Amino acid sequence: MKRLVDGDRLWSSLMEMGQVGREGDGVNRLALNDANKQGRELFTGWLRDEGLEVRVDRIGNIFGVREGADQGEPPIVVGSHLDTVSEAGVFDGALGVLSGLEIVRLLNQDDVETRRGVAVAAFTNEEGARFQPDMMGSMVFTGQLDAETAWAASDDGGVTVKDELQRIGYLGEDEFNAGHYLELHVEQGPVLHSEGLEVGVVEGVQGMAWWDGEYKGEANHAGTTPLHLRRDALLAAADLCCRLREKAEELGHGSVVTMGRLHPKPDIRNVVPGGAFFTVDFRQYERALYEVGQRQVVKLIEETSERHGLERHLVQTVDAKPVRFDRGMVELVERKTKELGLSYNVMHSGAGHDAQFMSHVCPTAMIFVPSIGGRSHCPEERTLKADCVNGANVLLRCVLELSSGV
Ligand code: HGY
Ligand code: MN
Ligand code: MN
Repeated sequence: MKRLVDGDRLWSSLMEMGQVGREGDGVNRLALNDANKQGRELFTGWLRDEGLEVRVDRIGNIFGVREGADQGEPPIVVGSHLDTVSEAGVFDGALGVLSGLEIVRLLNQDDVETRRGVAVAAFTNEEGARFQPDMMGSMVFTGQLDAETAWAASDDGGVTVKDELQRIGYLGEDEFNAGHYLELHVEQGPVLHSEGLEVGVVEGVQGMAWWDGEYKGEANHAGTTPLHLRRDALLAAADLCCRLREKAEELGHGSVVTMGRLHPKPDIRNVVPGGAFFTVDFRQYERALYEVGQRQVVKLIEETSERHGLERHLVQTVDAKPVRFDRGMVELVERKTKELGLSYNVMHSGAGHDAQFMSHVCPTAMIFVPSIGGRSHCPEERTLKADCVNGANVLLRCVLELSSGV
């Protein structure tokens, strides 16, 4: 019998999780905040309801493990993340975690014994919206970041990751191994919805480089300081923002650069800003161009401070290289998508994902479903129930083949 997920049950869990951290139209489950804790508790409660053993590792990654007949092989892991940006939708991350839960619920309901275990994962701080770097949980899990460095990361208020893990009760010490990794995720971009496609068979993830920067000029009186005597840090940062956009257009091939944060100091209307804190996010899928682009972005940041006669401080906080997923896994996703009669394309991901790091330690692939209007990281993020169910069925079929050869 070719199984299908229970779409109503999946959707109901997704909507219930989507109420956790609700703030107006959006959701705020910033990594390790109270709402993120609440989401973790809801998820682990659902795992325990299914009789799963719940493991928590030293960076707070959660793994719900459904044992298989052969406990010698590491399990098939399906998952994503439960943390969100500060004004999020309900699908980013949660769809991947709760589709994994739905697969376990289905296997239990039908009393299916799989040959290999199946585990559902929720990785810590995928978003990087509160603590740097993003994909922190999967980076620590895959040895790309040591736990001590991750624990010491602090938010704008100086609270550390370790403080928060301890406070919310998710500083674990369980060890865990993954045999294969699959992640269902909303595309978060415009491709599938604009082309009327049901599924994205994801063959890789673009590179992502993040910097925190500060320009330092001279605070002064807004009324008395002549233009030629000003060392205006905000003016320089604004100039940089425009030049970064030009740089992305010049690099081409889908390059994107974003200055997502820009904070003048002292941020008072009648003071020439002596300081300006900013962030830069550069993305590119082609490896060589990704490396070239990083260097050119840094050069532009340096040149612009010199152009304005300012000091600068620059720290790179993320350098997630472009990855290509295991061919066999991509072909498995494509085969199961075809088997289900779904329209699809083979594409790469513009957004970063935990799969980007999991691909360093085990055969990995991703499945995308359409984001309506390509919107994400905002309350307007929408994906149709039918599309969520399609994606979960592709995920289910992949898991059944990997875990039991069916
Ligand atoms: O920024 C990203 O692409 C991911 O959502 N953290
Ligand atoms: Mn995500
Ligand atoms: Mn996200």
